[in-house]
Amino acid sequence: MIVTGDIVEVRQIRWADPTGHWGLVPTMGYLHEGHLSLVRRAKEENGYTAVTIFVNPTQFAPTEDLSSYPRNLERDLALLAAEEVDLVFTPADAIMYPPDFQTTVTVGQVSKPLEGTSRPTHFQGVATVVAKLFNIIQPTRAYFGQKDAQQTVVLRQMVRDLNFNVEMIICPTVREADGLAMSSRNAYLTPEQRQAATVLYRALTAASNAYAQGERSGGRLRQIMSTTVATEPLARLDYASAADPLTLQELEQVESGVLFSLAVFFGKTRLIDNMVIA
Ligand code: PAJ
Repeated sequence: MIVTGDIVEVRQIRWADPTGHWGLVPTMGYLHEGHLSLVRRAKEENGYTAVTIFVNPTQFAPTEDLSSYPRNLERDLALLAAEEVDLVFTPADAIMYPPDFQTTVTVGQVSKPLEGTSRPTHFQGVATVVAKLFNIIQPTRAYFGQKDAQQTVVLRQMVRDLNFNVEMIICPTVREADGLAMSSRNAYLTPEQRQAATVLYRALTAASNAYAQGERSGGRLRQIMSTTVATEPLARLDYASAADPLTLQELEQVESGVLFSLAVFFGKTRLIDNMVIA
């Protein structure tokens, strides 16, 4: 496994076998089983696998958790070595964003609702860094988690609009035994908040059950999620959504394929989760 922060070296390794297929898994590190599920899928489907570890400053607002975002590069590299990853790209901030950097990628409508309401500059940061990573690695396929549902919609739109020659593969959300979606940010939770955090999955399950029993009103399904979250004293709801999975617009009448999603605060920690209803 080669670990480097150097773009020229990445390109040499990437193109040493010009006919080889590369799978790319972009991450911000502090790896868990969710990340590793993407790595394993990439390994299955490609001759070579690259993982990037870069806590991308431009996707954090000034008020957000950039400085406290959990990091453990040594542990991450040991996990990736055990998966027999070929290449790990760990660039310094100044490599990705030199002082004269001045270009950004802005994806339109689908960046605006949901996460975009609470984090208006977030997806510009995500789209810009992923565009750069695609250009640096030039992967055949790139692997993203359904956990960040809107991120997958935004990045698919970017790939279509800017004609990136990359196949986007979206992988299922990996959960803890009690349903909590794995996330690097779970590390911020106190033991009490960790208990309370199962309320996201409980709220999504409640909406999903109501749908299975015939409820089709978007308003009532959103209310089922918000009232479930309200039963948990340590939780504060940011949003509960029942939206079209492609446009991310809220639905009045839902149908199969609807995306239920929520964001919930536990103290300063903000967690997101979602479910797509078959
Ligand atoms: P990060 O939060 O580190 O996540 C990296 C990838 O792992 C994303 O595609 C995310 O959706 C996926 N992932 C996270 N938790 C998961 C889970 N429980 N199950 C399955 N997949 C999961 O998302 C980012 O980093 C950044 O925005 C990035 C795309 C790297 C751009 O900076």
